[in-house]
Amino acid sequence: MIQLSIIPIENGPLKIKNLSNENLKNILFYDYLPITLKTSTFICRCGKSKNQPFCDGTHLKDNFNSEKKIKEEIIQVYNSKDVTVTFNRSICAGSAQCVKEFPTIYSSESSQDWINLDKETTQEIIKSIESCPSSALSYSIDDKQIMQDYEKENINILKNGPISVVGAVDLKIEHWSSFANKTKFTLCRCGVSENKPFCDYSHASLKDDSYTF
Ligand code: SF4
Ligand code: FES
Repeated sequence: MIQLSIIPIENGPLKIKNLSNENLKNILFYDYLPITLKTSTFICRCGKSKNQPFCDGTHLKDNFNSEKKIKEEIIQVYNSKDVTVTFNRSICAGSAQCVKEFPTIYSSESSQDWINLDKETTQEIIKSIESCPSSALSYSIDDKQIMQDYEKENINILKNGPISVVGAVDLKIEHWSSFANKTKFTLCRCGVSENKPFCDYSHASLKDDSYTF
């Protein structure tokens, strides 16, 4: 079987390649609408196409720059007696799933101490990490990073947010973010992430009406 792949085109859209009838039904728009795609499809990632989620060439007029701007990722590490949890702020899509579903572990206060591992079992901590859609949260036991492998492909283009990708989808990039899971990640669709092609939650601070994503 030919593997579904995503190619971030320099200063341009995301090219989704090798779509088949089989994996097409796992691609959703705004959480529920299946979208019609060709075997190769170009998804806007400058945030300004008038034909979302597809690219309409606006990035050319707008001089979209897809360069990654951050020099260093922001990494926080937390230890409990059995598990070490790592949070890579630079790939956090801000879904707030952690805060909503596991409030005893994650606090909505944005401070260095926003993760508290003392009140929950290791099992619950691991469950919370596995529910993170971006893989900004990861964990290791005895210095070995534990990475769940997601095989079933699912691409979800989220309203006013990133593209959420799960499964055996080959993202064609040279350098991955630290601790990132290659079978679970979120990609910038607004164009302003400092850590492209990954979402870093920059979309939340956009006020400009010219963004259409
Ligand atoms: S992406 Fe992960 S770490 Fe970031 S807010 Fe969502 S669940 Fe929490
Ligand atoms: S990337 Fe082409 S219009 Fe947005």
